[in-house]
Amino acid sequence: ANGLEAELAIKSEFMSLDCVDRMVLSINGKVPGPTLRVQPGELVQITVHNMMPSQSVSIHFHGQYQNNTPWQDGAATFSGCPIPAQTSWTYSFHANPTPGTYQYHSHVGGTSVGGVGGVLVIEGAVSEATAAIDGEHVLHLFDWWHAPQEEILTGLMSTQFRWPGDPQSVLINGRGSFDCDSNAMYTCNITAGASCSDSKGPIAPANLRPWYRPEYQPPQCDASACPDIEVFEVSMNGTYLLRLIGATSLSFLNVAVEGHNLTIVETDGHPAAPLEVSSVDLNSGQRLGVLLQANQQPGTYVIRVQIRGRSGVRFAHALLRYTGSPNVTVDPLGVQIPQPAWHDNNFTFQQQNALRGTQSLPVPPNKQVVRRFEIVNTQERLGGKNSNGKPSVDSIQAAIGLGSERPENNCDSAGNTRLLRWFLGRRTFFHSATPVLSKLYFNQGVDELTEDNSYYQVEVGKVYDIVVQNYPACNGVCETHSFHLHGMPFWVLGTFRGEFNGSAEQVAAFNLVDPPMRDSIMTPSEGVDNKPAVRAGCGYVVIRFKPIGPGAWPFHCHQLLHAAPMGSIVVFHTGPEGLPPPPSNLLVCGGMNLQTIMNRLKD
Ligand code: C2O
Repeated sequence: ANGLEAELAIKSEFMSLDCVDRMVLSINGKVPGPTLRVQPGELVQITVHNMMPSQSVSIHFHGQYQNNTPWQDGAATFSGCPIPAQTSWTYSFHANPTPGTYQYHSHVGGTSVGGVGGVLVIEGAVSEATAAIDGEHVLHLFDWWHAPQEEILTGLMSTQFRWPGDPQSVLINGRGSFDCDSNAMYTCNITAGASCSDSKGPIAPANLRPWYRPEYQPPQCDASACPDIEVFEVSMNGTYLLRLIGATSLSFLNVAVEGHNLTIVETDGHPAAPLEVSSVDLNSGQRLGVLLQANQQPGTYVIRVQIRGRSGVRFAHALLRYTGSPNVTVDPLGVQIPQPAWHDNNFTFQQQNALRGTQSLPVPPNKQVVRRFEIVNTQERLGGKNSNGKPSVDSIQAAIGLGSERPENNCDSAGNTRLLRWFLGRRTFFHSATPVLSKLYFNQGVDELTEDNSYYQVEVGKVYDIVVQNYPACNGVCETHSFHLHGMPFWVLGTFRGEFNGSAEQVAAFNLVDPPMRDSIMTPSEGVDNKPAVRAGCGYVVIRFKPIGPGAWPFHCHQLLHAAPMGSIVVFHTGPEGLPPPPSNLLVCGGMNLQTIMNRLKD
């Protein structure tokens, strides 16, 4: 076989994904784009036609190792330049060597928030448990705002920091249903003051952007424009693999099927020891393979996807229909399905810790860990001031910091200043036209790649740990975040309460026997109903990784509103040695010296 060749045409157009007509960024006329199916290790060549009038785009194949093809990672400003409007570019790489469930999405600005994404399946049985299934269904789960993605990004990055609020809808395979009679879904002020605020505090309803005012009337909301609900067919007594794709930009989800338990058998492309649950938690960037036994009374059952972790709960529904059952109309909201409350963080904590790898997975190398990175995740309001109390040169008002220092137990200007420094360093991620990989390879601006600026050098084949320590925001709220590492999977050594101090006891609690392997993991939270009096650490997750191939591999919050616009990104790179030469079609963006490139390509 010659591998997979596919074309993705990306366009801005108007569509009604959830009964409301809105500009979307579609792939081949659809949101999400086509499900790409490839064989393990196969050559994948994807030509992207950027047909948008003015927006650049890229495709990141989330979870693909890009072993020796770091230039194909599609992470703009890290692995390469984005594809300019009105041009085409071909990604070329070998798929990961083993079967599993993956996704792809744009990695430039807010383009993925606007809809540029889809599913990538590496075919075959991911584990013994999936060897004898009767069929499979793909559920691409996405959250959706009616405000255009450019407005959302502008709000997050401008002086008048504006939080977009919770999404209006959740989409299953691009289909959602917005209640046209209710504008409640536009108010982001559900827990007073937690959102809908700017640097001076909560915004009075009259000053909210029109989208978020209580009296706002949704435009062009037409119940007859609602897409049909997705129906997944199963045969009586069959076993089905549901591939659940966490493609959200912000939302943490829980998925359940009326009357059926689910058995998790795959975590992010890796076999998991079968774990039977009544519902599954899935955060942004994560994928789960779950088995469903069609062993109930023949009929039609409701599949419910519910937002968790934020008070702005929204639902999406699909149907599971036993073949031959009558085509009945169901009111999905009227059906009771046991799911955890949005703030039940014990559920999250338990389920994440209950997941185990199978025996076929490599055990994490022990005794060879060369370094443990401690990364603090916190949320700050920067107030636009620098350390002297002067208005800051930067427009950034709020940030999610990843740094090596822990914040003070308060939210005074000292804490803000420290975070501002982390953040200003991180501006090189998106205020630089030269991607990190090009900097390394062409030896340009490498002096910016310091640990102070959140660039960490690692070596291929060596073993590292990361402790992501979660901290509450200034209002005491400790939110869940979902971290994704490019270029390699990791072992999840455990999710813990409280604060990591490196004690022998804490280290002894790491699971080195059968940890699951993933590429995206949640930091635990204490839940908003449990605001600590002091800002102490509110839980940590420990992962172990071993770089597979050379490259510049971002590690970032996959709740994309937190990533580029708010600063929650660090980069692990393997340095200039051993980088493969760039592809002959390398995209060059501003700041690169083309002559340097040509000379370098010659030798
Ligand atoms: Cu799926 Cu850097 O992302």
